[in-house]
This record gives sequence, C-alpha cells and structure tokens, in this order.
Amino acid sequence: MSEPLLRVEHLCQYFGPNKAVDDVSFEINKGEVFGLVGESGCGKTTTGRSIIKLYNITSGSIYFKGKRIAAGTKSYKDRISEARKEIAGASPERRRELETEIARLREEIRKARRDHEQCDKLYKNELVREVREKFEPLLGKTTGEKRKQTAKEYRKALRIAKKQRYVTKIQMIFQDPIASLDPRMTVMDTIAEGLVIRGEKDKAVLEQKVYDILERVGLVREHANRYPHEFSGGQRQRIGVARAVVMEPELIIADEPVSALDVSIQAQVINLLNELRRDFGLTFLFIAHDLSVVKYFSDRIGVMYYGHMVELATSDELFAHPLHPYTQSLLSAIPLPDPLMEKKRKRLKYDPLSAHNYGNEMPEMREVCPGHFVRCSMEEFGRYRQQLGLGTSDEE
Ligand SMILES: Nc1ncnc2c1ncn2[C@@H]1O[C@H](COP(=O)(O)OP(=O)(O)OP(=O)(O)O)[C@@H](O)[C@H]1O
Ligand SMILES: [Mg+2]
Repeated sequence: MSEPLLRVEHLCQYFGPNKAVDDVSFEINKGEVFGLVGESGCGKTTTGRSIIKLYNITSGSIYFKGKRIAAGTKSYKDRISEARKEIAGASPERRRELETEIARLREEIRKARRDHEQCDKLYKNELVREVREKFEPLLGKTTGEKRKQTAKEYRKALRIAKKQRYVTKIQMIFQDPIASLDPRMTVMDTIAEGLVIRGEKDKAVLEQKVYDILERVGLVREHANRYPHEFSGGQRQRIGVARAVVMEPELIIADEPVSALDVSIQAQVINLLNELRRDFGLTFLFIAHDLSVVKYFSDRIGVMYYGHMVELATSDELFAHPLHPYTQSLLSAIPLPDPLMEKKRKRLKYDPLSAHNYGNEMPEMREVCPGHFVRCSMEEFGRYRQQLGLGTSDEE
C-alpha cells in the first residue's frame, strides 16, 4: 500500500475539560472522498481545524504526504508522570528501565515540537534549494539582456518559494458561508488573498486566476467587484469553494459546505465539488451531520460520536451493514423515498448507557471485517462478527 495523502493518528484536541476530539484515527488516500459525520458538537469541525493547524493539538500526530505536520505532546507527558510515580517505589532494575523510558519520551516530545513548528520551514528550504538548482546553471549559461531577464525570474521564484507554507496544500471550505467571508472585501480580494499571502504580486496574474476560477465554479468575472452580501447562499458557498481551489490544494476539507443551503441548491454545490474532484484530482474530507448528504459523494465514511470515531467503513458497507448502534440511529433518521416504507420507518434512538455494557472493558476501535472498523468491546466484537456471518473472535 502506498502512503495515504493524510494520516491522522490518535488525534486528541481538548479544550480544558472538554475532550472535543478524543483519540481519533483515520487515513485518506489520494483522490478519495472521506465523509465525516455525526451530530452537532461531536468534534467534526475541530478535527478539520486541527488538520490545518489552527490549534496546537493536545496529542497524536497528523501526517500529510508522509510528513508529520502536527503533533501533540500530552500523551507523552502523561506517560512521563506515570513513570515518575512508579520510580519512587521501584527496584533498581525497574528504575533503570523507567529512566530509559522517560528519556525516550522526552526525545519524542522534542521531535513532536520540532515537526509541529518546523514542517513549513523545512518545506520552504527544500523549495528554495530547488529554485537555486534550477536557476544557477541557467545564469551561468546566459549573458547580457537574457541573463538580466533570468536573474529577474530567479529573484521572483526565490521570493515566492520563501513564502510557501506546507499546509497551504490543504485548504478548508468553512462551515458558515456568511461568517467566513469578510463583508468589506470584494470577491476579487477575497479569492486573491491567499495567493497574495503566498507571494504573488502581479496584478494581471492575480486577476486572471480569479476570473478563471470564478468561471470554473459557476460564477462570472463580473462578480469579481461585488461584495459578499450581494450574493445568494449558494453563490457565497461557490465563492468559498473558489477561494479554496484557487490555491491549488491537494486536499480540501469541506466543512458542511451545503448544510446551510436549500435542498435544491445542495445538489448543485455537491455536483460542483464532484466536477472539481474529477478535473483537479482533488482529495476531500467532507464533513456533514447527515448521512444522506455524504452517501453519494463519499468513498468511505467515518462516524463520530462525542469526540470518538465509532465506526469507519466504505460508504457501501456502512449503509449495507451498519454495526454501531449510533450509526444505526443516524441511518434510521434518513427519510425513505418509498412512501409505504417511509410510513413504516422507525427512528432508532441511541442511548449509550443502555446500548453498551462497558463496565469491565473500555471499547476500542476494532476491525470487524477488512476495512470495517467499529469502536466496541470484545463481547460486541464477537457479536458484530456473527452478525456479518463471520467466525467468532475466539479462534483469533
Ligand atoms: N475554540 C473552542 N474553544 C472551546 N471549545 C470549543 C472550541 N471549538 C469547539 N469547541 C467545543 O468542542 C466541541 C466540538 O465542537 P465542533 O465545533 O468540533 O463540533 P461539530 O461536530 O463541528 O458540530 P457542528 O455540527 O455543530 O458544527 C463542542 O463541545 C464545542 O463546544
Ligand atoms: Mg462544525
């Protein structure tokens, strides 16, 4: 298997006592759409914002194209303080073991801090080196006017390389299309902003890019000089899409991009995202609170409940064999197209206390069948495997 585009490992993002995201892991492969669903407040937006480094994550790691872009240190610190407590009453031999462990954890903390802070710098240095390697030989070969021109291009390429940040390859379309657009900025300035920050100063280049992307997202170049309030909800979301896509990202985090829109407009925006996915080979993390929205758009789906990932499977598998009672309750909330079936549809309510017995054993994410993960106890794991017609867990 090749390296996934994005790998989230044991991500925790706590706000004081509120464990908004608690030990969430998933991967997104290149070209894939990964749907993330769950009710309001379960931690979907926080997961997205952690990935674009808007927080110093509490613990866990986030890898983009194999490079660690974010890392938290709490889990290491917790283990250090446990080891310190144990040291007090430990035998000399155990003591040495614990001291070695503490030294190793300290090194992990140092590495986490370095990766978190330096990933952009290392990336920038790499780009600068590439620009140098490209232009230095060229300069050597040319003379006179031609050389002057090359020198000018070289300077511009260097200036732009120095402004790059690794995480701009990940762009987010924000949840609220009204709040996320600055009312005092024209559409032109809104869309061009990221490019300007990235070092593009040439007005003609900026304008052309904005015009092109406006047309690409179903708006027209005349819209460039208008302000956000002059647009409908659907159009505003297209501006949000344009602002993300103009940065030529490889991964787009679309945070409930259609939730605020009328159903008829929702389909249009989903179609647009599908076209962009196809034309630009984009990869998506698609966030929604409703399974019906992600069903047709996602290759795989992760279901979150109160900060935890509770089930993760391909879209088809999740709809055919939902195992976690919370997923089943989300599915039961989707209206059915057949009126007779719809009449018989029973909404399942999820009550964690009566649904599980986690008295002796805390649940863990377990692979019930290849690619289908459920957060469950061993007892539930066995039951889920039986439901799928697989052997019980005893023989493993
Ligand atoms: N900056 C913050 N400071 C403190 N708490 C926060 C912050 N951002 C989010 N939270 C809390 O973290 C939890 C998860 O919030 P989050 O916005 O990620 O949920 P969500 O799944 O995106 O919900 P929604 O569907 O309503 O957008 C909530 O309890 C929320 O109140
Ligand atoms: Mg949200």
